[in-house]
Amino acid sequence: MTEPAPLAETVAAIDAHGARVQGMFSDIARGYDRANRWMSLGIDVLWRRRAVAEVLPAGAGAGGARPRILDLCAGTLDSTLELHRRYPEADIVGGDFSAGMLAVGEAKLQGPARARIVAREMDAHALPEPDASFDAVFCAFGARNLSDLEAATREQLRVLRPGGRLTVLEFFRPRGLFSRTFHACYNRTVLPVVGWAATGNLGAYLYLPRSIGAFVTIEDYGALLERANLRVVGSERLFGGVAGIVRAERPGGGT
Ligand SMILES: C[S@@+](CC[C@H](N)C(=O)[O-])C[C@H]1O[C@@H](n2cnc3c(N)ncnc32)[C@H](O)[C@@H]1O
Repeated sequence: MTEPAPLAETVAAIDAHGARVQGMFSDIARGYDRANRWMSLGIDVLWRRRAVAEVLPAGAGAGGARPRILDLCAGTLDSTLELHRRYPEADIVGGDFSAGMLAVGEAKLQGPARARIVAREMDAHALPEPDASFDAVFCAFGARNLSDLEAATREQLRVLRPGGRLTVLEFFRPRGLFSRTFHACYNRTVLPVVGWAATGNLGAYLYLPRSIGAFVTIEDYGALLERANLRVVGSERLFGGVAGIVRAERPGGGT
């Protein structure tokens, strides 16, 4: 696997919004997993499992080469570990710009996961990775936090090999009656209280519903990917549209 880029290279692109988000996640890192389990009653684990199921394109790893997966905005590496369980043969980079989140994640790596997973500090807007170097890019609950979604999408396209696959699991802005009601009732009331109890940081869990309300819908996100020259191959609504999965491919794989 390639060596990590020097740190200065990864922090240079972070703007004011990014710096706030980075500080917030570093602050809640130690309670982040606990908050997720309490807030979702474990459903987030099932969503991650579902999302990782079709991450690698057909033919990845053919000829004996290890498939390479980038888990972007990997946080405490829960999704990275789920990817490793699903694809034990793959080399996986867990990339995030919060050293605190990655440190919590690295402490969870044991046995074969230590050999296959590398945690690397990086900003999603300026990935310190070569062109066409990954078979798959995965991102769970990270896209909503980005300062410039289009620029970050261009970076994802750049590091994907032709035919490589992008999978995004996210709380897209809700449109249906159930998901809008759930967002208004649960996310704006229960969630901040539970998040505060788990991490001691109320601001981070007031930011979460705000970021969902300000994000794009799943349809608009698909259109954004298409404009960026990715081909959307599927999208799925989870729990009545409260969350969603979008899958896309970099054209040119010859399949
Ligand atoms: C809600 S957490 C999701 C973590 C993990 N993917 C999960 O499913 O639990 C969002 C993560 O995105 C990271 N993040 C936000 N903006 C980023 C950026 N511009 N570059 C890299 N990581 C970023 C944060 O540091 C945080 O760890």
